[in-house]
Amino acid sequence: MLLAHHQIWCNGRNLARHLVSAEDHIIEIGSSLGHCTEVLHARAADVLGLDVSVAQLAESRRRVPGAEFEFLDVFEEPDRLAALPAAARCTKVFLDIGGDRQKVQVLNAIGILRRCLQRARLIVVKSEELHAAMASWMGCTGNGEGILVCS
Ligand SMILES: C[S@@+](CC[C@H](N)C(=O)[O-])C[C@H]1O[C@@H](n2cnc3c(N)ncnc32)[C@H](O)[C@@H]1O
Repeated sequence: MLLAHHQIWCNGRNLARHLVSAEDHIIEIGSSLGHCTEVLHARAADVLGLDVSVAQLAESRRRVPGAEFEFLDVFEEPDRLAALPAAARCTKVFLDIGGDRQKVQVLNAIGILRRCLQRARLIVVKSEELHAAMASWMGCTGNGEGILVCS
């Protein structure tokens, strides 16, 4: 487990830049307006952005025409997530359903992603609460589980 700070996520979506390469197939949960998707799209083999906002999906399709976007609620539609063609090839996942979400919800989402996206070897998570809890529980040391938590 690696821990990172808010600035690392925000400054030009640096995590997307540094953790993704041309061999990666990405699923981004909470793609919002497509800002992070744009960075991922420039680096990865392919990107699927998922969100529950129809308006934000429309804007992200306009902003990043080369990426794929779809309406999907990660909590309500885990079976549909697992059945997506992109799920079978996904190597890395970016999860940002709001950095201020309760950690119990974020942990629930991580569990769903681990069940549905079994080929994925890295999940990057944006969560203030989970980041604080992990920093306190683990003293900011790594255990290599492939989940990177950012506040
Ligand atoms: C803070 S924004 C993500 C910003 C994005 N990571 C970026 O850096 O540009 C959070 C997004 O998560 C979406 N979201 C919230 N709950 C969700 C859910 N259950 N499933 C999928 N997306 C969700 C929201 O609609 C919103 O667009």
